[in-house]
Amino acid sequence: MTVPAPASDGLPARVRIHEVGARDGLQNEKATVPTEVKAEFVRRLAGAGLTTIEATSFVHPKWVPQLADAEALFPQVADLPVDLPVLVPNERGLDRALALGARRVAVFASATESFAKANLNRTVDEALAMFDPVVGRAKADGVHVRGYLSMCFGDPWEGPVPVAQVVRVCRALIDLGCDELSLGDTIGVATPGHVQALLLALNEAGVPTGTLGVHFHDTYGQALANTLTALRHGVTTVDASAGGLGGCPYARSATGNLATEDLVWMLRGLGIDTGVDLGRLVATSAWMADHLGRPSPSRTVRALSHKEQ
Ligand code: HMG
Ligand code: MG
Repeated sequence: MTVPAPASDGLPARVRIHEVGARDGLQNEKATVPTEVKAEFVRRLAGAGLTTIEATSFVHPKWVPQLADAEALFPQVADLPVDLPVLVPNERGLDRALALGARRVAVFASATESFAKANLNRTVDEALAMFDPVVGRAKADGVHVRGYLSMCFGDPWEGPVPVAQVVRVCRALIDLGCDELSLGDTIGVATPGHVQALLLALNEAGVPTGTLGVHFHDTYGQALANTLTALRHGVTTVDASAGGLGGCPYARSATGNLATEDLVWMLRGLGIDTGVDLGRLVATSAWMADHLGRPSPSRTVRALSHKEQ
């Protein structure tokens, strides 16, 4: 399909997609996907042109059994010519990641006490204290650190989350030394006005837009509208999950992430470069959907699976 080149309208020329399907997607699948299939998934994602592919998590295997094979998986993909960030909640996780040569790690905080407890067995501040040596040691080793912040808009236990509460934890993550933040709408309740208000408040608190990525889940079908709002604000890093896989095992009502294909379709239509080959990506998600035994929730995957792109 030929795409007309549109006026840029203040939008960025290029967006970096932070692909989370192999981690955020597969961590939430009922079935545990075999390690070899995960490795092939990551290879196919790289083959489709994705350059940042979150590979797995070095968390407690009892907490996320779907990713308990991190030690077996990471070496199988480590030589791909792409960035392969991994989640590490604590020093034990960092040790495991560094031992395998990981060069990008992510800590994951919560804006709310309820989710901090459910996801990390800590208060918000205890979790930040747990991350402090992780970020310090990683930075001293030249390792890039992303700081996720979950429940930036709403929380299943606490309802709407005040912007000031989110800004406080974002500032704390930046002050710990995180290189970039990812603003998580874990349960997918954000709408564009709320996104704009949070981004403005973060700028006012001295957090530059260039350090921010966005991580939308698509529960209410708002993920693309929210993404466009963030792009208009100057954000150029967008998290997405191939085929719309995903959710979070410790958040009720967390559905799939924004599907990478839906994002690429919109960006391609806007003339924004991502480096992604949409046809290869759709084929990859269709292949993974076959492994999972259910169709992809991505509209773009469904629309293009049987068509020429
Ligand atoms: P805890 O039970 O408080 O752990 O869990 P602990 O520190 O008390 O340690 C207990 C035992 O676990 C010890 O073993 C540790 O060594 C071991 P023992 O001495 O009893 O034999 N242990 C570990 N083992 C392996 N790897 C580790 C590790 N850490 C401790 N890293 C902990 C605390 C943080 C470990 C636990 O709560 C945990 O693993 N949580 C992870 C939850 C998770 O992965 N959630 C999903 C990712 S977040 C997300 O999806 C949201 C996001 O997508 C953004 C969005 O959408 O909002 C990022
Ligand atoms: Mg997520």
